[in-house]
Amino acid sequence: MGEEWVRVCDAGSLSSGELVEFDHGGKKLMVAKIGSDIYATDRICTHAYADLTAGFVNEGEKTVTCPLHLSAFKFADGVPQNPPATIPLKTYKVKIQDNAIYIKID
Ligand code: FES
Repeated sequence: MGEEWVRVCDAGSLSSGELVEFDHGGKKLMVAKIGSDIYATDRICTHAYADLTAGFVNEGEKTVTCPLHLSAFKFADGVPQNPPATIPLKTYKVKIQDNAIYIKID
């Protein structure tokens, strides 16, 4: 399978603590901005079926908490910090180019 950088949105359109959903090729992703850092992960919880963009961002911990059973996932590596989820979210590389956010889909 090939890899491609895909444009998500203008870099300036995201505020810190904000989550943006993004679909590409059947994948359901989200992009998060925490301070000046931008992260991209899958957005469907690895435990059951919940959309994490409906969850709660913790900017200090750099996590998103699932709205259904409250597992928190680190944006940086997708690793769940508490049960019931045990499987990490898939994460994606992010770059800023020409004032836009791109993520690498593989
Ligand atoms: S669906 Fe997310 S923790 Fe259960």
